[in-house]
Amino acid sequence: MKILTVVGARPQFIKEAIVQKEMKKWPNIEEVLVHTGQHYDAKMSGDIFSSLEIDAPKYHLDINRGSHGQMTGKMLIKIEEVLLKEEPDVVLVYGDTNSTLAAALAAAKLKIPVAHVEAGLRQNPKDMPEEINRQLTDRISKHLYVPSLKGIENLKLEGLEQRAVFTGDVMYDLYLEMEPYFNSEIASAFSLEEDKYILLTLHRDFNVDDRFVLQKILENLKRISEFIPIVFPIHPRTRQRILKFNLSDYLSNFKILEPLDYLDLMGLVQNAKLIITDSGGLQKESYFAGRRSLIVMPDTGWIELIEEGINKLTKPENLYSKFTEMSSLSVVDKGIYGKGNASEIIVRDLISHYDKVLSR
Ligand code: UD1
Repeated sequence: MKILTVVGARPQFIKEAIVQKEMKKWPNIEEVLVHTGQHYDAKMSGDIFSSLEIDAPKYHLDINRGSHGQMTGKMLIKIEEVLLKEEPDVVLVYGDTNSTLAAALAAAKLKIPVAHVEAGLRQNPKDMPEEINRQLTDRISKHLYVPSLKGIENLKLEGLEQRAVFTGDVMYDLYLEMEPYFNSEIASAFSLEEDKYILLTLHRDFNVDDRFVLQKILENLKRISEFIPIVFPIHPRTRQRILKFNLSDYLSNFKILEPLDYLDLMGLVQNAKLIITDSGGLQKESYFAGRRSLIVMPDTGWIELIEEGINKLTKPENLYSKFTEMSSLSVVDKGIYGKGNASEIIVRDLISHYDKVLSR
């Protein structure tokens, strides 16, 4: 059977690392990997492929920059060409980026079934690009692989539960698999001791594209950084905005880093007192590591971690006060995201539908 996988942004490379590993266990599976080019810096793309040993993509479409409409439109055209040439049995997509939607739409229009990993998540604001991408992708996908029980409930409300399979989270699989290789060298290089620093990431459009909001966030973080070091691997989009809005002075106390590869980032997550983030992935990775996240978002697709009292949401202006309320007690894994075999469940399900030999 032929599976054509489309990735484009950093969180998708990470998910693909573990799912590809599972696909390789099955000699009947031929995987064709397509990289849209959405993320192109070495730190955001190539370095992740090499550190997680992901195969080089067969097609690299080199589509990035421009508005969301331009990016998604160009991807749609190019991905359709690849699909017509490769004629896969199924197209595999991850998450909620522009690359996800473009691939799902290109395949659905050609009547090629789409399998969506990380389906069923829903959050506010409804007009954020990721929410639009994931809702539309779920609508047009045939197989919805759902990481959480909350995701299954969401799909039921939309009448999509018949296509849904609870799998657990592939990011949990990867975390367990790679844990022995997490790299603590960055913490050592900066003399950061366990529980004595905060790890920060920030990139959402509603946090970084508006000068006033970004300034509010940085003001609050600056207050925090006066008594505990903040380590900040900075996303290219956020770097651009800080420079554009002339806000660099707020960062004088921060330890600024380039975007980190997965093994380095997890090395920092494991020992941080707290994680402050607006990343979907990091909210769960902190939980896998027994840590907590303070999330600078009005809502999250990973709401179960809020309901369990592990993570907290904050508005930009309340960041400092929420931080002072948050304990850094360690967190016990309650198995919310499955058993670490999500990739296996996904690949076996695809085989049962598309492999003429193995499914007999
Ligand atoms: C995208 C995803 C988001 C995901 C995030 C992870 C969408 C709508 N959003 O957001 O869901 O959480 O990736 O990082 O798809 N840039 C660079 N170098 C790069 C990548 C981006 O300079 O390697 C610049 C782009 O030119 C652009 C900006 O950063 O100006 C934003 O990049 P883009 O991929 O559009 O969105 P992200 O904010 O990364």
